[in-house]
Amino acid sequence: MAFVKWEPKFEVGVAAVDAQHRMLFEHVNALFDAMQAGQGKDEIGKTLSFLAKYTVDHFKTEEDLMQKSAYPGYADHKAIHDELTRQVVELQGKLAKGSQMLSLPVMHFLRDWLAHHISEEDKKMALHLNAAGIH
Ligand SMILES: [Fe+2]
Ligand SMILES: [Fe+2]
Repeated sequence: MAFVKWEPKFEVGVAAVDAQHRMLFEHVNALFDAMQAGQGKDEIGKTLSFLAKYTVDHFKTEEDLMQKSAYPGYADHKAIHDELTRQVVELQGKLAKGSQMLSLPVMHFLRDWLAHHISEEDKKMALHLNAAGIH
């Protein structure tokens, strides 16, 4: 069973963003599966790198759209993206060093972060994008 299930309530109404959010859920599920399967830190590290890279690319997509449409909440939204990126890089470092294992609390953190950020900040952003004619 999937660890995180994409649901219609996560739809924000901007096609490119919604497609990427679905992929993010899939990458989080892949990471969970790797953890459940007891994969070693190299394999987990690869899966996490993939998720991290996809996340950074996704944030860039949103930030470009926010800038293009002069979104007033851009700086705050970007700061939240930057903080998550920092946390993921830190996690990658700890896993690589072996000072931390990928654990259920870490997975819950990623899942809750994703669900919360989409439901709050991304939806607010999407309202503005929609009003600016971006769907
Ligand atoms: Fe966002
Ligand atoms: Fe997003």
